[in-house]
Amino acid sequence: MTASAAAPAVPALQDSAFLRACRREPVPHTPVWFMRQAGRSLPEYRKVRAGVPMLEACWRPDLVTEITLQPVRRHGVDAAILFSDIVVPLKAVGVDLDIVPGVGPVVAEPIRTAADLDRLRPLEPDDVAAIAEAVRMTVAELGPVPLIGFAGAPFTLASYLVEGGPSRNHEHTKALMYGDPVLWDALMRRLAGITAAFLRAQIEAGVSAVQLFDSWVGALPATDYVRQVQPHSAAVLSAVGELGVPRIHFGVVTGELLGHMGDAGAEVVGVDFRLPLDEALQRIGPDRAVQGNLDPAALFAPWEAVAERTRAVLAAGRAAPGHIFNLGHGVIPETDPGVLTRVVDLVHEESAR
Ligand code: CP3
Repeated sequence: MTASAAAPAVPALQDSAFLRACRREPVPHTPVWFMRQAGRSLPEYRKVRAGVPMLEACWRPDLVTEITLQPVRRHGVDAAILFSDIVVPLKAVGVDLDIVPGVGPVVAEPIRTAADLDRLRPLEPDDVAAIAEAVRMTVAELGPVPLIGFAGAPFTLASYLVEGGPSRNHEHTKALMYGDPVLWDALMRRLAGITAAFLRAQIEAGVSAVQLFDSWVGALPATDYVRQVQPHSAAVLSAVGELGVPRIHFGVVTGELLGHMGDAGAEVVGVDFRLPLDEALQRIGPDRAVQGNLDPAALFAPWEAVAERTRAVLAAGRAAPGHIFNLGHGVIPETDPGVLTRVVDLVHEESAR
């Protein structure tokens, strides 16, 4: 008996438009999913989350499975993203932090000295056993729809840890980075290890792709990114490279960094909404797939404007050897979910071949 006859679900999954686009193979239509597709834009999300704090929800496999599936059911997106957060592995190694509604992650004792760094221990698979269980349950429910696992990149995690919370200017982070490069390097190595272990746990539990979110890296000039950040993101990507799932690498305000992000090693580079995909591709290089990049705020415009911009993203994406349609950053909580569904339908219709 051939492997495909023994396990029919696996070929269908591997043959999905999303995974084909990641591998730069021909696709039946352009695959589409949305960063932050699971969350507050959906009434069914608010209902199941009522009374359950964010980080508690992340540790409950039944809730994670339900919330991860909600946007797949509602919008018919081509991939699911695990409901979790970039600070989950930090919480798992004992960092005292919380996610404050309307604010974001808040860390009780920021990490700014060598003694502080000693409190940040490596991540063991057992620390995230509940997340691995959630992945297994979700994969079983999703069938042929791929599940994307994710983690925060070392710089973005460092920003929360060093600032103690969300930051506009990242001043404490830059003070450490420029003032004590040796401690900075040690912190980034520690975070790269935690991130790689977190991604590995998700891949071993069954996710079909992973995304490394370096949301705040656009705060850096390219020279500093190359010297003090990119090697650590590259180390994370390389640590999971042998596991064979496509890797997506995304950041915001990265126009000046895209070439270096491409060099970090992921198969797919996520592009924010500030640069058309064909121009982004010239900076990334011709041998990567791209993901993006409709402006999430544009979804608040009248439908004809949304449709026109969706078509423009598809047109620019045709320059790439693989294109995964997405927003240029996460879904804004007040977004009309009906508009997201219409965008999915339009992407599928316009790109069908
Ligand atoms: O649908 C998905 O994309 C999967 C779930 C997901 C969440 N966070 C759930 C979440 C993902 C991929 C993330 C990643 C994440 N978390 C990033 C990188 C992506 C990005 O947007 O740049 C960052 C920077 C964080 C840190 C974080 N966590 C922020 C800034 C916030 C928002 C705070 C707020 O309330 O405005 C969170 C909390 C969070 N993570 C929520 C969700 C659904 C909201 C909490 C809630 O619903 O109560």
